[in-house]
Amino acid sequence: MSDVKIAPSLLAADFGNLRHDVEMVDQSEADWHHIDVMDGVFVPNISFGTPVVKAIAEYATKPLDVHLMIVEPDRYIKTFADLGAETLTVHYEACTHLHRTLQAIKTTGVKAGVALNPHTNVNLLEHIITDIDLVCIMSVNPGFGGQSFIENTYDKVRALKALIRQKNASTLIEIDGGVNNNNAKDLVAAGADVLVAGSFVFKSDDPLATIKELKG
Ligand code: DX5
Ligand code: ZN
Repeated sequence: MSDVKIAPSLLAADFGNLRHDVEMVDQSEADWHHIDVMDGVFVPNISFGTPVVKAIAEYATKPLDVHLMIVEPDRYIKTFADLGAETLTVHYEACTHLHRTLQAIKTTGVKAGVALNPHTNVNLLEHIITDIDLVCIMSVNPGFGGQSFIENTYDKVRALKALIRQKNASTLIEIDGGVNNNNAKDLVAAGADVLVAGSFVFKSDDPLATIKELKG
């Protein structure tokens, strides 16, 4: 399982000591910082916006994997690119012109990701998969950390993996929501390349050890 990338979600970090938690991830075996931006419109919750991401970007040393749970994400592509995002993920359900949005992200030099809500069929990406650097399969309904993993996710991962192979794409599969030690290995076996974990990492007694365990 050592090839899997681990992306701790800072949504579950201690916001009063954000720098401490970012530095912990930087010192851990994790690969990316997962950053959840929520607007209170696309999802019911508001998390944090660009000033906080800017602060994180100033001291984080690992790549920033920015997950935009917002409507009209095109309006903010340049902002997050300028802040130093390595990957910018938009929601399929929030994009009327997904191809155009992905091209706009890539034009800034940032990797383009697409997130799918639990009800969204992975095969909707059939004609665009070769344009996508990362697909984020939501294994909970987006908006909150600490929710239970949706078991149907395994089928979606297998179906997406088959599509990626069929189209000879190099797209990474990321899983976001309810990831823990009970499902990590099975997700990787099904085809996952990146595991996002919020509560499981930050609410654990020893986050460094928990990250190491997830990494396998
Ligand atoms: C949910 C976010 C997730 C969340 C995961 O809308 O996209 O990244 O932080 O948190 P856990 O791992 O606690 O489910
Ligand atoms: Zn996320």
